[in-house]
Amino acid sequence: MTTSTAAKYGTARRTVTMRVNGRGVTREVSTRTTLADFLRDELDLVSVHIGCEHGECGCCNVLFDGHSVRSCLMLAVQGDGHAVETVESLSVDPTELHPIQESFAEEQGLQCGFCTPAMVLRTKEIIETGHAMTDAEVRHEISGILCRCTGYQNIVNAVQSAGAKLRGGAVGADRGEAMADGAGGGRS
Ligand code: FES
Ligand code: FES
Repeated sequence: MTTSTAAKYGTARRTVTMRVNGRGVTREVSTRTTLADFLRDELDLVSVHIGCEHGECGCCNVLFDGHSVRSCLMLAVQGDGHAVETVESLSVDPTELHPIQESFAEEQGLQCGFCTPAMVLRTKEIIETGHAMTDAEVRHEISGILCRCTGYQNIVNAVQSAGAKLRGGAVGADRGEAMADGAGGGRS
């Protein structure tokens, strides 16, 4: 922080208490600390990937009271009294993958992996909130997260596969529809 910025905005600190991945945490933070920086720097939850830092890419998404938010656009103090989930919450034992993580691996739904934590958390939200799972619907639901590797069709397949595992039912009834009609703009 520059001297002029500190002079303009001050360096106030506040105590925040929130549930992060099911665990209660209390920390004193600067009122200017973003939720993304708090999770990464204070709690070592480095699955929170910071790309653009201004709300465009969605790679910093976490679940906030069960819903996706861009953690680069929120302040840590806004998390006071709320529940935050990062992808580290999915598997207590790092050698045992969560079914959503399994699906991303099986369907090759990741390349460099930069968008993957956000995609996995969004998948959890899509499944838990009961969204439909056609190719077009999944593409719409994940459209807030940019995959710079552009392997969208495999991500769609992974979301559908995870949905089938966790909800039961057929995998991706209309799989391939998007490839045929060009929806979503990604390559397979
Ligand atoms: S880093 Fe937050 S939206 Fe890109
Ligand atoms: S897998 Fe590389 S950004 Fe999505």
